[in-house]
Amino acid sequence: MMNATEILKQMTLEEKAAFCSGRDFWHTKAIERLGVPSVMMCDGPHGLRKQEGEGDHLGINKSIETVCYPTAAALAASFDREVMAVLGEALGKECQAENVGMLLGPGLNIKRSPLCGRNFEYFSEDPYLAGEMGTAYVKALQKEGIAACAKHFACNNQETRRMSGSSQVDERTLHEIYLPAFEKVVKEGKTRSIMCAYNAINDVFCAENKTLLKDILRDEWGYDGFVVTDWGAVKDRAKGVASGLDLEMPGGPNATGEEIVRAVKEGTLSEEDLDQAVLRVLRFVQGTLEKRRPDTVIDRDANRALARRLASECAVLMKNEGALPLAADVSVAFIGEFADKPRYQGAGSSHINVPHPVSALEAAGGSVQYARGYDAHSDTTNPELLSAAVEAAKSVDVPVIFAGLPDAFETEGADREHMRLPDNQNELIDAVAKVNPRTVVVLYGGSTVELPWIAHVNSVLCMYLDGEQTGAATVDLLYGSKNPGGHLAETWPVRLQDNPSYLNFPGEDGVVTYAEGIFVGYRYYDKKEMPVLFPFGHGLSYTRFAYEKLTVDKESILDTDSIHVTVTVKNIGERPGKAAVQLYVRDVESTVRRPVRELKAFEKVALAPGESKEVSFVLDKRAFAYWEPKCHDFFVESGAFVLEIGESSRNIRCEKTVQVEGTTLLSFPVTETTTIGQLLKHPKGEIIIGQMMSSSTMSHADQTDSMGEGSERMMQQMMLGIPLGSLVSYGRLTPAKLKELIETLNA
Ligand code: BGC
Repeated sequence: MMNATEILKQMTLEEKAAFCSGRDFWHTKAIERLGVPSVMMCDGPHGLRKQEGEGDHLGINKSIETVCYPTAAALAASFDREVMAVLGEALGKECQAENVGMLLGPGLNIKRSPLCGRNFEYFSEDPYLAGEMGTAYVKALQKEGIAACAKHFACNNQETRRMSGSSQVDERTLHEIYLPAFEKVVKEGKTRSIMCAYNAINDVFCAENKTLLKDILRDEWGYDGFVVTDWGAVKDRAKGVASGLDLEMPGGPNATGEEIVRAVKEGTLSEEDLDQAVLRVLRFVQGTLEKRRPDTVIDRDANRALARRLASECAVLMKNEGALPLAADVSVAFIGEFADKPRYQGAGSSHINVPHPVSALEAAGGSVQYARGYDAHSDTTNPELLSAAVEAAKSVDVPVIFAGLPDAFETEGADREHMRLPDNQNELIDAVAKVNPRTVVVLYGGSTVELPWIAHVNSVLCMYLDGEQTGAATVDLLYGSKNPGGHLAETWPVRLQDNPSYLNFPGEDGVVTYAEGIFVGYRYYDKKEMPVLFPFGHGLSYTRFAYEKLTVDKESILDTDSIHVTVTVKNIGERPGKAAVQLYVRDVESTVRRPVRELKAFEKVALAPGESKEVSFVLDKRAFAYWEPKCHDFFVESGAFVLEIGESSRNIRCEKTVQVEGTTLLSFPVTETTTIGQLLKHPKGEIIIGQMMSSSTMSHADQTDSMGEGSERMMQQMMLGIPLGSLVSYGRLTPAKLKELIETLNA
């Protein structure tokens, strides 16, 4: 293929316009006369959904039989970039072998509510964790020559009205919560493609949102890949291209680009904008050809073994009062339909065609009793199944109940209506726990659920939706041939009503207001000091870890420097295990609302019994900054910050305080309503206030002397709250002087 710029020069306006839509469900258009081939793209992201027959984006028609790996919800709980990297590599190779140029993922949307029907496809409630996991995956996939496609950009955090609704989000929240994961895959992951979301942000559809697709994505982040629509997200085609959208999918026979041609001829779309879109898609095609490795051979059996290993890395041991791990000689009953028919992936476009998912029952190989316990397609208790399960539970040392969300609860296109397990499962667990105190519960599902029986069961192992090998991995973990090392990438609230988005999910009439602002997930629960079922970052192990020697290379830095942090982790138990070392940053004092703590670094470390390792982290400005709408940028307020090493957001094991000095000053427009307190943050404010105070007839010191020491603070507060305009009424400034002052400050 010729070079992209050369090809562009030879294309007619009509060819260019048509080229900006797909050929069909999964291909870009070929331009035969110029030697441009068509490239195939497929869903992902946790397996290859290659459709050779009729295409669809809802998981309806067949795709090739292949391996289903853990879904994003599970993967994030690994807190392990290596897990993402080996997955990206395996999928990249598979795409090469199947001649697929782009895999549609990772899904980077933040879990704003437990009810989002697609939470299983997303990583976390925390933007840093989502960004890190996504970036590791993107890098590995692209190293194999396959383009990643980070989706759904942005604020697509629910399925209700996903194709037409608007997410109303303030600037700070957008930049602190909903954009950073995308920013990281762009800047560090160098993702070659971004999929814009169906929804609007603040009433402007993402597919034609210039602020999002040009100003932020390209100008601020320096993105040089291409933007593809979510399937069918286009509203105004020409406006989309003018706003930074490159490729419309799925396209098809009607996607001739007439609208674009007309807009160029009428002058509402510049041909330069269209050329840019064409060039970016051409470069993607060219890149795909250059990176093509047609000789790649994949071994699906080896990939199944990989899926099993990864599945065990993702599981979270939520509670363990001693029943786990199961010794080889204890008698065990597996109870619940999911022991036989596991849930391991969700429904919709990410659905992978698996020839043989492995159940725990199969993996246990006849060594356990089995009772079905409940009907997975119903909510109602079947008395016969229940009593058989209770009898089985009585007759063994340890009953293991396999519970979780049924298929119908987790699907693209629909949100959940509540956060409960089906009633028949809750009743079963209650009944079994009553007759056997060593009851273990295994949970399958892609999102959080209320666990009303938690105090009555001995142990809970959460497998999330862990891919086709979930049953084998469950058995590995239950019997301790693998040690659980996953940690929750989301808070498990006690009840749905506790969730910060509760009153504003899924919105009304297609409008959802993100009223909780930056207080999403643990940022909210921790600020409210609210009891939770399990905190963000929580996860137990069959061993224990000690944390010591938390040190920093500098105790005081400018925000333009970085700080090196080290901590030593030791395995003080008897089994090999992996620690997820989490570093949170807490701003001690702030003039703006900030979360109690935020995750800013993490590392997964494998340790043999007795072994210790030093783990190091580097923190830069972003670890201390918040988004300041006054300067439309991240901003550090000088002061003390506590670095906390935790095993969850609620279990901080050691801490160290450092001083960070902000090097940028806030410049903002000063008006008559600007208060003296606000002025203190203005670059010129302090000097001017100083001058005003010294020329004042009654200085602050005189006043506090005459009022008594105790009133000083009150006096200060009162002064800080006075708007500049009021200084005229108080006779401190003439109107002309006030005008001059405001002009000087704004100059
Ligand atoms: C989904 C995307 C998916 C696309 C293609 C859309 O409905 O939102 O995540 O990649 O379909 O199947």
